[in-house]
Amino acid sequence: MPEPNAQFLLSLLLSLLVHLLSSSLPSTCHPPPRFLTPHRRSFPRPTLRQPFSRYKYDTRYFDQDLDHFSFSDAGKYSQRYLVGDEHWVGAQRRGPIFVYCGNEGDIEWFADNTGFVWEIAPLFGAMVVFPEHRYYGVSMPYGSREGAYRDATTLSFLTAEQALADFAVLITHLKSNLSAEASPVVLFGGSYGGMLAAWMRLKYPHIAIGALSSSAPILQFEDIVPPETFYDIVSNGFKRESTSCFETIKKSWEALIEEGRKENGLQKLTKMFCLCRELKNVDDLVDWLSSAYSYLAMVNYPYPSSFLMPLPGHPIREVCKRIDGCANGTSILERIFEGVSVYYNFTGDVECFKLDDDPHGMDGWNWQACTEMVMPMSTSEDTSMFPPSEYDLSSFEEWCSSLFKVKPRSTWVTTEFGGHDIVATLKKFGSNIIFANGLLDPWSGGGVLQNISDSVVALITEEGAHHIDLRAATDEDPDWLIEQRQTEVNLIKKWLDDYNQARVGAVSVM
Ligand SMILES: *[C@@H]1O[C@H](CO)[C@@H](O)[C@H](O)[C@H]1NC(C)=O
Ligand SMILES: *[C@@H]1O[C@H](CO)[C@@H](O)[C@H](O)[C@H]1NC(C)=O
Ligand SMILES: *[C@@H]1O[C@H](CO)[C@@H](O)[C@H](O)[C@H]1NC(C)=O
Ligand SMILES: *[C@@H]1O[C@H](CO)[C@@H](O)[C@H](O)[C@H]1NC(C)=O
Repeated sequence: MPEPNAQFLLSLLLSLLVHLLSSSLPSTCHPPPRFLTPHRRSFPRPTLRQPFSRYKYDTRYFDQDLDHFSFSDAGKYSQRYLVGDEHWVGAQRRGPIFVYCGNEGDIEWFADNTGFVWEIAPLFGAMVVFPEHRYYGVSMPYGSREGAYRDATTLSFLTAEQALADFAVLITHLKSNLSAEASPVVLFGGSYGGMLAAWMRLKYPHIAIGALSSSAPILQFEDIVPPETFYDIVSNGFKRESTSCFETIKKSWEALIEEGRKENGLQKLTKMFCLCRELKNVDDLVDWLSSAYSYLAMVNYPYPSSFLMPLPGHPIREVCKRIDGCANGTSILERIFEGVSVYYNFTGDVECFKLDDDPHGMDGWNWQACTEMVMPMSTSEDTSMFPPSEYDLSSFEEWCSSLFKVKPRSTWVTTEFGGHDIVATLKKFGSNIIFANGLLDPWSGGGVLQNISDSVVALITEEGAHHIDLRAATDEDPDWLIEQRQTEVNLIKKWLDDYNQARVGAVSVM
């Protein structure tokens, strides 16, 4: 039993140690940034699920092989797909089939948020098909989500290659059932779905004649683009609205850490940020704020939207107005709270904020990020407003090992789909792909931003955010967006004309 004096010393030492440990800026492995999808985080999402879809489609199911790449019987699963054929001109007239490559979420959500495809289908007399990506929505192998997500063995069929093979098999089957073998297929996709659309055009050129790949960071792998690109673009989105806003956010991390370190500091932060539950760790608040800024950059649309959250038009401008507009003497952290409330509480009906219940949960994208989709990310001290952090593969590997007992294969995507030397490769071997990117979107940094050939084309919009072109037209669409969509329609029309002309040519030769 130590003497009182020694005990005091010991506790002093301990508190010093705790102080030292917590004084560094958060450098633990944060979950990698995500695309815009209805993921399993506990954000309030009041308007996410509309009771009725705006678009007319049938919901169907298809028995898919669980494993397309082995001949031992891994069994089947039921893949959901949506079909809208009211405008289809039919097999005899070679009516086109527009296929949206389902990404990491419920396919109904993507169908509702991809108005462009539905709106242009009548112009082309096209059928619209939205196949769901395996392991998402209701397209679950092993009978249930629990079964599918049990462990690394049951999850092993969740890969982009299997998903593309699903699309290929489904399209082939649908065409054959409709005797529509001659109908040309055009692929669409946004974000990860855009990556799938581009990759599918390259892997299965006999199945689809072209792909509109919107906001698809197919170069966000290995060292193809600098790892700080993503967070630099987020930061620039704030800086272009206001340098003082950018500076306030940049300074806020230190202020947070300092506050959290104080006696009752976590309690005070809990109160200040109106959190539902007592904050246990400043890192959780850092993650919550960082993801708000990243999502704001993705949905920095020029008109009000409710993709993830109900938001005003130019939401970053609104956040900065709040941060800058506080009365003199308002503390940095109070300003941050005002700003972030635009994202998390725009409707004003949130009583308290829930941070992630389980940011490290077993979900589909975490699995994909921990296996194939390894996208190195870091933040730069000089150019970003985020806490500086290095890309640390080994702590990422630890995170993946603790979640799934798997080791990421960080060079597999470029081996399987390419990415290095993309210009030379696609110039020779690619055709009929549109890479659309809005430069406000942090994912644009990993996108294809230059024209590669006559038919592998980059459409860039300075003021565009994450696949805004795929969204439904609105009365508030700016001219650049209307023009971008028109260019896309013209290019798709050219692909279809070329296809049909080649057919006519072939017939006349006979
Ligand atoms: C084939 O098409 C018919 C409609 O023409 C449909 O009723 C049937 O379910 C389809 N079969 C499959 C297996 O998709
Ligand atoms: C804050 O104080 C500065 C100078 O002291 C003044 O120029 C500015 O208008 C004040 N801002 C507000 C919001 O009161
Ligand atoms: C959300 O906004 C409303 C209206 O401004 C406010 O009364 C409420 O306290 C806010 N909720 C939180 C958690 O800050
Ligand atoms: C690529 O070419 C298209 C025309 O096909 C043009 O509209 C577009 O601006 C070009 N993109 C770039 C990045 O130069």
